[in-house]
Amino acid sequence: MRRVKQKHAKKSRFYNELAPYLDFICTLENRRKDVLVLRKLIGRHLKSAGRKLLDVACGTGLEDRYLKQTFKVTGVDLNKSVLQIARKRNPDVTYLSGDMQTFRLRSRYDVITCFDAMCYLKTYTELRRTLRNFQRHLAKGGLLIF
Ligand SMILES: C[S@@+](CC[C@H](N)C(=O)[O-])C[C@H]1O[C@@H](n2cnc3c(N)ncnc32)[C@H](O)[C@@H]1O
Repeated sequence: MRRVKQKHAKKSRFYNELAPYLDFICTLENRRKDVLVLRKLIGRHLKSAGRKLLDVACGTGLEDRYLKQTFKVTGVDLNKSVLQIARKRNPDVTYLSGDMQTFRLRSRYDVITCFDAMCYLKTYTELRRTLRNFQRHLAKGGLLIF
Protein backbone atom coordinates (compact mmCIF):
# COMPACT_ATOMS: atom_id res chain seq x y z
CA MET A 1 0.00 0.00 0.00
CA ARG A 2 2.78 2.36 0.92
CA ARG A 3 4.62 1.58 -2.31
CA VAL A 4 1.46 2.32 -4.33
CA LYS A 5 1.06 5.67 -2.57
CA GLN A 6 4.68 6.61 -3.20
CA LYS A 7 4.32 5.74 -6.88
CA HIS A 8 1.23 7.94 -7.21
CA ALA A 9 2.93 10.77 -5.36
CA LYS A 10 5.75 10.61 -7.93
CA LYS A 11 3.32 10.70 -10.89
CA SER A 12 1.40 13.58 -9.30
CA ARG A 13 4.56 15.60 -8.74
CA PHE A 14 5.54 15.22 -12.38
CA TYR A 15 2.17 16.47 -13.67
CA ASN A 16 1.84 19.11 -10.96
CA GLU A 17 5.04 20.66 -12.27
CA LEU A 18 4.12 20.12 -15.92
CA ALA A 19 0.50 21.35 -15.67
CA PRO A 20 1.08 25.01 -16.75
CA TYR A 21 2.98 23.83 -19.86
CA LEU A 22 0.67 21.02 -21.01
CA ASP A 23 -1.36 23.34 -23.25
CA PHE A 24 1.78 24.19 -25.24
CA ILE A 25 2.54 20.51 -25.81
CA CYS A 26 -1.00 19.32 -26.66
CA THR A 27 -2.63 22.33 -28.33
CA LEU A 28 -6.36 23.08 -28.48
CA GLU A 29 -6.24 22.96 -32.30
CA ASN A 30 -4.82 19.41 -32.29
CA ARG A 31 -7.48 18.32 -29.85
CA ARG A 32 -10.23 19.95 -31.93
CA LYS A 33 -9.13 17.78 -34.88
CA ASP A 34 -8.94 14.67 -32.67
CA VAL A 35 -12.49 15.24 -31.47
CA LEU A 36 -13.76 15.52 -35.07
CA VAL A 37 -12.43 12.00 -35.75
CA LEU A 38 -13.73 10.81 -32.42
CA ARG A 39 -17.27 12.00 -33.12
CA LYS A 40 -17.30 9.98 -36.35
CA LEU A 41 -16.07 6.86 -34.53
CA ILE A 42 -18.65 7.26 -31.79
CA GLY A 43 -21.43 7.89 -34.31
CA ARG A 44 -20.51 4.68 -36.11
CA HIS A 45 -20.10 2.34 -33.12
CA LEU A 46 -22.12 3.59 -30.15
CA LYS A 47 -25.08 1.33 -29.35
CA SER A 48 -26.42 3.01 -26.22
CA ALA A 49 -28.79 5.93 -26.59
CA GLY A 50 -27.43 8.27 -23.90
CA ARG A 51 -25.04 11.19 -24.13
CA LYS A 52 -22.93 10.77 -20.99
CA LEU A 53 -19.17 10.76 -21.53
CA LEU A 54 -16.46 10.09 -18.95
CA ASP A 55 -13.02 11.45 -19.85
CA VAL A 56 -10.50 9.53 -17.74
CA ALA A 57 -7.06 11.16 -17.29
CA CYS A 58 -8.67 14.30 -18.72
CA GLY A 59 -5.62 16.50 -18.09
CA THR A 60 -6.32 20.19 -18.64
CA GLY A 61 -9.64 19.45 -20.36
CA LEU A 62 -8.52 20.21 -23.92
CA GLU A 63 -10.69 17.51 -25.52
CA ASP A 64 -13.57 18.30 -23.15
CA ARG A 65 -13.66 21.82 -24.62
CA TYR A 66 -15.02 20.17 -27.81
CA LEU A 67 -16.56 16.97 -26.46
CA LYS A 68 -18.99 18.96 -24.33
CA GLN A 69 -20.60 20.37 -27.48
CA THR A 70 -22.08 16.90 -28.07
CA PHE A 71 -21.86 15.12 -24.70
CA LYS A 72 -22.51 15.66 -21.03
CA VAL A 73 -18.89 15.33 -19.91
CA THR A 74 -17.37 14.28 -16.58
CA GLY A 75 -13.58 14.36 -16.23
CA VAL A 76 -11.36 12.36 -13.87
CA ASP A 77 -7.64 12.86 -13.30
CA LEU A 78 -5.05 11.87 -10.72
CA ASN A 79 -3.54 15.30 -10.66
CA LYS A 80 -5.06 18.30 -8.89
CA SER A 81 -3.07 20.95 -10.80
CA VAL A 82 -4.33 19.84 -14.20
CA LEU A 83 -7.88 19.62 -12.82
CA GLN A 84 -7.66 23.26 -11.69
CA ILE A 85 -6.86 24.30 -15.27
CA ALA A 86 -9.58 22.02 -16.68
CA ARG A 87 -12.18 23.57 -14.33
CA LYS A 88 -11.24 27.08 -15.48
CA ARG A 89 -11.43 26.05 -19.13
CA ASN A 90 -14.72 24.18 -18.78
CA PRO A 91 -16.71 25.52 -15.81
CA ASP A 92 -19.74 23.60 -17.09
CA VAL A 93 -17.97 20.21 -16.83
CA THR A 94 -17.77 18.17 -13.60
CA TYR A 95 -14.16 17.34 -12.72
CA LEU A 96 -13.21 14.77 -10.11
CA SER A 97 -9.96 13.67 -8.61
CA GLY A 98 -9.24 9.94 -9.01
CA ASP A 99 -6.92 7.19 -10.17
CA MET A 100 -8.04 5.35 -13.30
CA GLN A 101 -7.36 2.02 -11.60
CA THR A 102 -9.52 2.63 -8.55
CA PHE A 103 -11.99 5.52 -8.97
CA ARG A 104 -15.64 4.70 -8.25
CA LEU A 105 -18.59 6.74 -9.50
CA ARG A 106 -22.27 6.02 -9.06
CA SER A 107 -23.07 6.63 -12.73
CA ARG A 108 -22.51 4.61 -15.85
CA TYR A 109 -21.40 6.30 -19.05
CA ASP A 110 -22.23 5.82 -22.73
CA VAL A 111 -18.70 6.70 -23.76
CA ILE A 112 -15.46 6.43 -21.78
CA THR A 113 -12.35 8.02 -23.25
CA CYS A 114 -8.79 7.81 -21.98
CA PHE A 115 -6.25 9.63 -24.13
CA ASP A 116 -2.48 9.60 -23.79
CA ALA A 117 -2.56 7.98 -20.38
CA MET A 118 -2.84 4.18 -20.57
CA CYS A 119 0.94 4.29 -21.09
CA TYR A 120 1.29 5.11 -17.37
CA LEU A 121 0.10 1.64 -16.45
CA LYS A 122 3.20 -0.38 -15.82
CA THR A 123 2.02 -3.97 -15.44
CA TYR A 124 -0.53 -6.38 -16.84
CA THR A 125 -2.26 -6.37 -13.43
CA GLU A 126 -2.63 -2.58 -13.54
CA LEU A 127 -3.98 -2.73 -17.09
CA ARG A 128 -6.47 -5.44 -16.13
CA ARG A 129 -7.61 -3.53 -13.02
CA THR A 130 -8.10 -0.37 -15.10
CA LEU A 131 -10.05 -2.07 -17.88
CA ARG A 132 -12.27 -3.80 -15.28
CA ASN A 133 -12.88 -0.40 -13.70
CA PHE A 134 -13.83 1.11 -17.06
CA GLN A 135 -16.17 -1.82 -17.70
CA ARG A 136 -17.80 -1.19 -14.30
CA HIS A 137 -18.63 2.37 -15.39
CA LEU A 138 -19.77 1.61 -18.93
CA ALA A 139 -23.47 1.65 -19.85
CA LYS A 140 -24.92 -1.30 -21.80
CA GLY A 141 -23.94 -0.78 -25.45
CA GLY A 142 -21.44 1.86 -24.40
CA LEU A 143 -18.07 2.52 -25.99
CA LEU A 144 -14.55 2.64 -24.53
CA ILE A 145 -12.00 4.55 -26.59
CA PHE A 146 -8.34 4.80 -25.64
C1 LIG B 1 -0.36 13.33 -21.44
S1 LIG B 1 -1.62 13.83 -20.29
C2 LIG B 1 -3.08 13.61 -21.31
C3 LIG B 1 -4.20 14.52 -20.90
C4 LIG B 1 -5.44 14.48 -21.80
N1 LIG B 1 -6.06 13.19 -21.80
C5 LIG B 1 -5.05 14.89 -23.23
O1 LIG B 1 -5.02 14.00 -24.09
O2 LIG B 1 -4.81 16.09 -23.45
C6 LIG B 1 -1.73 12.42 -19.18
C7 LIG B 1 -2.70 12.62 -18.02
O3 LIG B 1 -2.87 11.37 -17.38
C8 LIG B 1 -3.04 11.62 -16.00
N2 LIG B 1 -2.79 10.37 -15.31
C9 LIG B 1 -1.64 9.64 -15.24
N3 LIG B 1 -1.83 8.52 -14.53
C10 LIG B 1 -3.13 8.53 -14.13
C11 LIG B 1 -3.94 7.64 -13.36
N4 LIG B 1 -3.42 6.52 -12.85
N5 LIG B 1 -5.23 7.95 -13.15
C12 LIG B 1 -5.77 9.09 -13.65
N6 LIG B 1 -5.06 9.98 -14.38
C13 LIG B 1 -3.75 9.70 -14.62
C14 LIG B 1 -2.03 12.73 -15.71
O4 LIG B 1 -2.30 13.40 -14.50
C15 LIG B 1 -2.20 13.59 -16.96
O5 LIG B 1 -3.15 14.60 -16.76
